Amino acid sequence: MKRNKIIDLINLESPKKNILIKGWVKTKRDSKTFSFIELNDGSCLKNIQIIVNDNYVDYSKIRKLKTGSALEVTGNMVASQGSRQKWEIQALTIEIIGSSEDSFPLQKKRHSDEYLRTIAHLRPRTNKYGSLFRIRSEVSWAVHKFFKDRGFWYIHTPVITSSDCEGAGELFRVTTLSDPLPMKEDKKIDYSKDFFGKESNLTVSGQLSAEMFALSLGNVYTFGPTFRAENSNTSRHIAEFWMIEPEMAFCNLNENMDLGEELIKNIVSFSLEYCSDDINLFSNFVDKQLIFSLDKIIYNDFIRIPYEEAVDILIKSKEAFTFKIVHGLDLQSEHERYLSEKVFNKPVIIYNYPKGIKPFYMRLNEDNETVAAMDIIVPRIGELIGGSQREERLDILEKNMEFLGLSKDHYWWYLDSRKYGSVPHSGFGLGFERLLMLITGITNIRDVIPFPRTPGSIDF
Ligand code: 4AD
Ligand code: MG
Repeated sequence: MKRNKIIDLINLESPKKNILIKGWVKTKRDSKTFSFIELNDGSCLKNIQIIVNDNYVDYSKIRKLKTGSALEVTGNMVASQGSRQKWEIQALTIEIIGSSEDSFPLQKKRHSDEYLRTIAHLRPRTNKYGSLFRIRSEVSWAVHKFFKDRGFWYIHTPVITSSDCEGAGELFRVTTLSDPLPMKEDKKIDYSKDFFGKESNLTVSGQLSAEMFALSLGNVYTFGPTFRAENSNTSRHIAEFWMIEPEMAFCNLNENMDLGEELIKNIVSFSLEYCSDDINLFSNFVDKQLIFSLDKIIYNDFIRIPYEEAVDILIKSKEAFTFKIVHGLDLQSEHERYLSEKVFNKPVIIYNYPKGIKPFYMRLNEDNETVAAMDIIVPRIGELIGGSQREERLDILEKNMEFLGLSKDHYWWYLDSRKYGSVPHSGFGLGFERLLMLITGITNIRDVIPFPRTPGSIDF
C-alpha cells in the first residue's frame, strides 16, 4: 500500500477508501467512546483528524498515546462532522511507530520564539516553524527557477578559500594545524605547514569566483552558505548565512539594480501565490500588515537615490540617531530603516557610495570619489542586497589594491581576468535569511534558518 500525503487528501472532491498515512500526533482528545487524533506529516500546515472507536482492539494503547508520537494509520476517509475540516479518517489500524514521552516540550500552548530557539531541533514540529521551513524550501527553488528562466548558469563556488572578498577581516580560519603549532622565525604561525600550504578561511562571498565564470559563461549565479565572524549580536546578522550572488558580463550598475529589483519582486509574488497557506499563518499571527506590505513591494517601483542625496535627507530630518550621520561614512541600519520606512515607505536603492567605505573590486566613477556600488534597503530589515559594477580596468584595479595593501601576487588569478578580454560586469549579493524575514514578517534572523550560528552559540 502506497503512503498518502495529507496535502493530497485534504482537498479531494470525494472521499478515498483504504488510505495509508504516516505522521506525528499534534494533539489528541478523548470522548467517552472515541479518540480524536490530529496527525501532521509535514506535507502542509493542516493536520488530518483521525477517529478511533473504543471498540478498536488496541484502544487502551490509543488512550495512552502521547503528543509527538509517530503513527502509521490505515483507514477510510469520511465527511467530517466538524466544521474545521472537510474530511476525516475512520481508523482501521493504527501502528505506533515511535512513541513519545511525557517530557515532549511542545504541548498545546503557544511558546515564545526565545524558548523555541533552545529546542531548535524540535521547533519544525510547531505550526509556525513547519510553515517557515516549507517556505524556505519553496523560495530556494523559486530562486533557481528565476535564474534558469533568464538563462543564468548555476556555479558552485568554493566554501574554503584563501581570499577575503569583502576585506573586512571577518574570516573563520580553516586549519588542520594543532599544538604544538609550527612557528616561523618572526614568531608567527607557519601556515606553509598547514593543509593547503597557506592561510585559508571559510568564504565570506562567492563573488570573486563568480566573476571568473561570468567572464566566460556570460550570466551566472551562486547560491550557497557564506561565513562571517562579525562579533555583532544583532537580529540581522548570523555567522553562517546563505547568499544568492548573480554576476553578469556586459552589465552596468543600472542593469544590476534592475535585476535586484526584479528578483525581489519575483520571489515575493511567488511566495504569495505558491505558499499562501503557510504565508497566511504569518499574516495571522506574526504581522497583520504582512500581505499589504508584500503587495506594496510587488506593485511599486523602488526608489533610486545616490548616497549623497540619502545623506542629505538624513541630515535634514533632524532625527536623533544613535550613530551620527556624516557625509563619507557608511550608513547604519537605523539610517537605512529611517529612509525606507519613514521617508519613502518602500524599498530604496542607494548608489554611488564614497570609495573609502567600499571593497577593492568596485568600479571607480568619473568623479574619482565614488564607486558604482548599490545597496537595496527594505522596510523592517535595512540592507537586503549589496552589489556593484566591478572595476574592469586593470591599471585602476591594481592601484586600488596597492592602496589597500592587497597582494597582487595573491590575487594573480583575479587580475588575469582583467588582462584577457576584460568587460564591464556587475553583480550583487542577496542575503537569503533577510529575504525570508521580509516574506514572513519574522523579526529575528535566528528564526529563519534551521540551526542558527551566532557568537557563543553552536548547539545542534
Ligand atoms: O553587502 P555584502 O557584504 O556583499 C558582498 O558580500 C558582495 N561580495 C556580494 C556580491 O556583490 N556578490 O553582503 C551581501 C548581503 C547583504 O546585503 C545582506 O543581505 C547579507 O548579504 N549579509 C548577511 N546576512 C546575514 N548575516 C550576516 N552576517 C550578513 N552579512 C551580509
Ligand atoms: Mg553590504
